[in-house]
Amino acid sequence: MKLTLSQATVTDIDADLLVVPIASAGFEKQPLFKQLDAALDGELLRIAKLEDFTGKKGQALQLHTMGKIKARKLRLHVLAGKELDAEECRMAGVAAARVVREAKSVALFVSDEHAPQLAAFAQGLLLGDYKYKSYLTPTGKPKAPARALLVLEHKPIAADRHAVEEATIVSEAVHLARDLVNAPPNEMTSAALANEARRVARETGIRCTVWGKQEIIRRGMTLLAAVNAGSSEEPRFIHMVYTPTGKGKKKPARVVFVGKGLTFDSGGLCLKPAKSMETMKCDMAGGAVTLAVIAAAARLKLPVEVHAVIPSTDNMTGSNAFKPGDIYRTLGGKTVEILNTDAEGRLILADALTYARKLEPTVLVDHATLTGACMVALGQWRAGLYANDDELLKRYQEAAKRSGEALWAMPLDEDLRETIKSPIADIKNTGDGYGGSISAALFLREFVGDAKWIHLDIAGPAFLSAAHGLSPKGGTGFGVRTALEFIKSYA
Ligand code: BES
Ligand code: MN
Ligand code: ZN
Repeated sequence: MKLTLSQATVTDIDADLLVVPIASAGFEKQPLFKQLDAALDGELLRIAKLEDFTGKKGQALQLHTMGKIKARKLRLHVLAGKELDAEECRMAGVAAARVVREAKSVALFVSDEHAPQLAAFAQGLLLGDYKYKSYLTPTGKPKAPARALLVLEHKPIAADRHAVEEATIVSEAVHLARDLVNAPPNEMTSAALANEARRVARETGIRCTVWGKQEIIRRGMTLLAAVNAGSSEEPRFIHMVYTPTGKGKKKPARVVFVGKGLTFDSGGLCLKPAKSMETMKCDMAGGAVTLAVIAAAARLKLPVEVHAVIPSTDNMTGSNAFKPGDIYRTLGGKTVEILNTDAEGRLILADALTYARKLEPTVLVDHATLTGACMVALGQWRAGLYANDDELLKRYQEAAKRSGEALWAMPLDEDLRETIKSPIADIKNTGDGYGGSISAALFLREFVGDAKWIHLDIAGPAFLSAAHGLSPKGGTGFGVRTALEFIKSYA
């Protein structure tokens, strides 16, 4: 979608559909409502009454304007009231974006009262306009891309343009993550994911190193190699670095992101049932988020050093596949006994976290579609948030509050550490079946050393069976916006 910023009086906006957010309390007495009602010869209030439009939060009223104002159709969208909430404004944008497809051009009017939320409106418009079309054979003439206007009451100033630019970069990053996740697993192999990383690096001018199978084995990433052993696709280990150019006085913070890049999870020899496998192309969503975050950080020129570390393979059942009972000595020196080959995410992350902590991060953040148990605990719209430091946990929660993404703080319960003990190795890769998201997080903790660390179990919200809130069906890009807010907190 192409987003343009302009200025006009509300009655003079040229668009097929004009969306006007309006505050809930006493809507009929508000100057904006009165102005529109007067231009429409009192029809607005009359239709509002006929349609039982009461000004309840989230309600919308749409009508033809019969040439009385410049826009062909008008849609009032009710926001809660005085305390303007960014998420509500994003949702107003999403609602507007969803009607763009019917209208040829849509305009969203941002009154001066709502102007502080310009970025949220822009983000909503952009995030709401997403459909994965790469594999739909076009029929008929190609449609022109949707056009959206953000119309301000005042003449746009530099800060307004900046807000829209930033919203655009962030939304494009979310769309990149969605695209990578939605791509089919026969195409989105580890090699393809690494090529995407190289492309992003080239386009944003950042560093990117990719290791293939030989190098992964030579460097001692035994667990990544083990998960890959049953596959005919080669694994990849991706490391990207964005270094800010500014000559600030103090050294910038170094935030290292790690993302699970499992391009397809069959479960391995502990095979998943067919139904559970249907959506398992989503298992590289953590890698997709990680890649999207570093791309946006570089484009936004944030004054923070950002790393992206993505271990990537699929989990298959070939004759060389790793097996329950196998024991591997890991990159970090610990031995791991395999009990279930479907608990593979924590294995490839163990090697990646060991590598990442050696980069001496200010903070280490991993995203992973790690456990079905996390979805059982929190539902499919909320991610599990783990941290080994209370202040850091609070910082991440605050970032999530600004982004509007739903997280829940989960405990790194020491009692459950027992359940991942092995009688014949240092640790095993599954717990006892209870608290599965927590035992997976405890497994990861074994490999972060003394780094300050955040772990996000995004198994639920990374991929949805139906659209919800800002997210479309399929890949959502969940996590990108909070991660960027978090990085900004170090600027
Ligand atoms: N990739 C899955 C987790 C998952 C489940 C992601 C549903 C998205 C939606 C992960 O590798 C897995 O299979 N975990 C197992 C762990 C178990 C074997 C200990 C699980 O959750 O069942
Ligand atoms: Mn699995
Ligand atoms: Zn998995």
